[in-house]
Amino acid sequence: MTELAEDRQARHNQRKGVNLGLVARSSFTDALLVAISYLTGPLFCGFYGLLVTLWMPILCLAFLVDTYTQRTGSAKSGKTRGNLSIEQGGSRTAIVVLSMRATAAGLGYGVDHIAPQLMAQLPFAGIGIPGTIYLSQIYQLLTRAHFRLTSMTLNDFLAKVLGLPVGECFMHSRTCFMDDTLMSFVHDMQQQKKPAANVVVLGAGYDTRLYRLPCFAKYEKADSTAASTSSATGGATTADADDVGTHMRLYEVDASGTQFEKRRVLLNAGIRTDHVTYVTVDFAAESWLHALEQGGFDASLPTCFIWEGITYYLTEDVLLENLAIFQEFSTDSVIGFDYFGPWCRGARIMQAMQAAGEPWHFHIRHDQHLQQLLCATYHFAIKDHVDHARCIDRYVPCHLDGRPLGHLGAFGGFVAMSPQR
Ligand SMILES: C[S@@+](CC[C@H](N)C(=O)[O-])C[C@H]1O[C@@H](n2cnc3c(N)ncnc32)[C@H](O)[C@@H]1O
Repeated sequence: MTELAEDRQARHNQRKGVNLGLVARSSFTDALLVAISYLTGPLFCGFYGLLVTLWMPILCLAFLVDTYTQRTGSAKSGKTRGNLSIEQGGSRTAIVVLSMRATAAGLGYGVDHIAPQLMAQLPFAGIGIPGTIYLSQIYQLLTRAHFRLTSMTLNDFLAKVLGLPVGECFMHSRTCFMDDTLMSFVHDMQQQKKPAANVVVLGAGYDTRLYRLPCFAKYEKADSTAASTSSATGGATTADADDVGTHMRLYEVDASGTQFEKRRVLLNAGIRTDHVTYVTVDFAAESWLHALEQGGFDASLPTCFIWEGITYYLTEDVLLENLAIFQEFSTDSVIGFDYFGPWCRGARIMQAMQAAGEPWHFHIRHDQHLQQLLCATYHFAIKDHVDHARCIDRYVPCHLDGRPLGHLGAFGGFVAMSPQR
């Protein structure tokens, strides 16, 4: 077995044996909660779900006050309110995603060990309101307690009740899939002895891969003066110095509001960032490739694009433009992305996302739609495709009897693909 396969297997075992690990590693209180939940099962699920759900109006109220404050501010300054991601405070959904990863990590099965550090500094409802950070922290505590009592996180519980396929299990699986895609790419580049390659995280939000994956650990240890150059766009620095193996050039691309906020929390958490080039771009108004090139990006190198949690925010036209850009990269490049399936057509969540200022547009209508876009129109080779069933098998943690721990419906899929000539 190769080192990469062994590493994957170890992570798989860790994910699958999570329930045993949780009980074994938990405190006395946790063990007691788990024991109570086994005895009282459905009763607690309903009761505790109700209790935690009562907390939701407080969060929603904070969110509404924040939205109102921002609207009033925009009206006073004469600006119309646009995409939250380019405003001060940045994307709220990026914080919600981070919060879900922080919960999974706090419970012992999540792979993003940096998420709790960042989440401790961010409120996901009411960015502009003093004290709302505590609402998020109480929410984290409640959702963890909910899991101890019911073996289901609050998000999974709510998703199940509301008939939605996506909750914490989905987010955890998506993180694992993108980690696997990126680590395989780095491994392949090193096996092929490529002198240099790029990693680009598009719409990075609070993605922590470039700071936590073992394949980038050497950058953390590198001398901070080594190979650091100024980025044309964000005034940031890049480090592509690597004495052994492939030189990995690391980029994060995001809207100004989110990126500013992320860099602030990384700095406060004492996490080193000078090995990453930060590129600021508004996807709706500018070319991300042009912005990257201004930041020193070499498009002739093999590139791994992580396009996580993004496609649903694009219109089909913009999605097609992006596919055409990816198609121009070398055939050893890889694009990892996720998509939603037919379930979101007409779903209430579409209206909710619109009202929240981060509307969803695109979804895959049926299997042929995906094939047509990726293979017939643009000739990508699909290297990995994980649908709902494969996802449960590969990434979703289980009870000791094999039942999935949490809730995951037919969300759509995760894809890793390469351009073909
Ligand atoms: C749901 S978040 C996903 C974040 C991250 N990929 C993850 O999975 O944790 C969507 C991201 O897209 C970014 N975004 C939204 N609209 C954008 C725009 N017009 N230009 C650039 N970035 C945008 C937001 O700032 C945010 O980071």
